[in-house]
Parts: sequence; structure tokens; C-alpha cells
Amino acid sequence: MEHIMSKENKIKYAELWKSSARHFEVNGLYDWMCKFIRKYPKVVEIGCGTGQGTLALLKAGHKVISIDTNEFCIEETKRKIVEMGYTVETSLNKIESSDLVIIRGDITDDILCNKLSKIQPDLFLCWNIGTYWSEEMKVDYLDKMQIYGLTEDQINNNPQTSYSELVIWQTCKVAKISNAAVHLIERMNVIINSNNNHFYELLKKGFNFKNTKYEQIEAKTLSIGGIPLIGIDRVLVPDNEVSIFLTSILMK
Ligand SMILES: C[S@@+](CC[C@H](N)C(=O)[O-])C[C@H]1O[C@@H](n2cnc3c(N)ncnc32)[C@H](O)[C@@H]1O
Repeated sequence: MEHIMSKENKIKYAELWKSSARHFEVNGLYDWMCKFIRKYPKVVEIGCGTGQGTLALLKAGHKVISIDTNEFCIEETKRKIVEMGYTVETSLNKIESSDLVIIRGDITDDILCNKLSKIQPDLFLCWNIGTYWSEEMKVDYLDKMQIYGLTEDQINNNPQTSYSELVIWQTCKVAKISNAAVHLIERMNVIINSNNNHFYELLKKGFNFKNTKYEQIEAKTLSIGGIPLIGIDRVLVPDNEVSIFLTSILMK
């Protein structure tokens, strides 16, 4: 399936995310994200963005398979990783002989998920997926969001959050068929735990994970150029730099 965000929006997104991610990178936050998953050698990164997380994962010694729908994000990631001296391939068959395999693909595509499960990853991770959305994507994803369990009204009221829930749900689905763990990073404006967070606890129950571990750190995130930050209470925050709780959720 072709992913229908327009070329213009994809380029704009890649540029904006690069500055957001750079802000996390210089503040050591990708290293913070990595510290929860040290014991998982082979990881699939859903949505590599512009590669700051990918680089942190490689530096931490993981074998990485990165998937992203946006070819401009993929190009930027490849450039960054090759420049740092790591080997990069574009075929899943090459995973044992390279540091990183990077693929343009959509995690909501079940055929891709089946292929990923065959390479026996230890963990699927989905970091900061929340801001990727443009209205034109609805044509491609409406059915999938409904299959995931949302009504058309829920989707229309919160399309961006609905999409990010779909991606996270699909990440859990492929992790389960691969017998792997899941690591999520979310930007939130509240402190969460297993008693006050229904979405992740529902995922835990629905996919039969034994354990969910939450950790949070106070951080700043950039919200620039019209790409807003959405917290779990679905509030839009249009400021340039906003305080958040970066939230690690490990499910196994
Ligand atoms: C907000 S960025 C986060 C990037 C990176 N994880 C980080 O923390 O720096 C989200 C990325 O997910 C990608 N993405 C969105 N939907 C996707 C999907 N269905 N399958 C694969 N990648 C997707 C986007 O193209 C974008 O590069």
C-alpha cells in the first residue's frame, strides 16, 4: 500500500522532526530511552524519524532493524548512520551481517509484520510516534483504525491520537506473534502509573503481557511550525518549547 502523505508534507515533517529530535539528542534523552532495553540485543525500531534514536541504539550495541514510511526520514537516518561508520543494508536477509537494516515500510501492513517476526527480534520499539499525521492519510487508515476498534466519530474527533494508537496496537500485535517485548516512549503532560492509565493497561490485558513498567522523566520538547504536541488528555500545546513528562513503557 502506498502511504499517501504528500511529498511536500513528508519533506516538511522530516525537517521539523529533525529539530525536535536534535533537542532530545543534545539533552541526552535518547540515551535515557536506551537504558530500559539493554537486555534486548535485536530490536525493531518502528518509525526511525531522522535517526537520532537509531544512532543511540547502535551506540548502545543493539542490532537494529528500522522501519519508516517517510522516505525523506529514511534518507536522513541512513546518511547519519553511515557517516558515523556503521554498516547499513536495506534487506532483512542482511541483518546478521550489518549493524542496521533500514526499510521503507508501514507497520500497519501485516505482510511486513510477518516478515519481521521471522527474523526473531527480541524487542519492538516505538518511540515518540505521536505527531505523525496529516488529514490526507485518513483515506488509507480509516478502515484499519476501525478494525483496531475506534468509531468513525472517535477518529474524526482525534485523528492524530487515533492513528498513533493504531501504530502502537499494531506494534504490540507483531511483538506478540514474534514472542518479543515492546518498548514505547510517549510525550505526556501527566504522571502515569498502572492505576491511572487505561490505554496501556488495556494493551497489556489485550495482548496478555505479564508485566508493564512505567518510568518518567521531566523534559522539554519542541513544538514548532504547526506540528502540535498531543498529551494523553488530548490537549494541543502550540508553544515553541513545552515541559513534558517523557514516559517509558516496557511491556513483556
Ligand atoms: C515523531 S517521529 C519519531 C522518530 C523516532 N522514533 C524518534 O523518537 O526520534 C515518528 C516517525 O514514525 C514514522 N511513522 C509514522 N507512521 C508509521 C507507520 N505506520 N509505519 C512506520 N513508520 C511510521 C514517521 O514517518 C516518523 O518518521
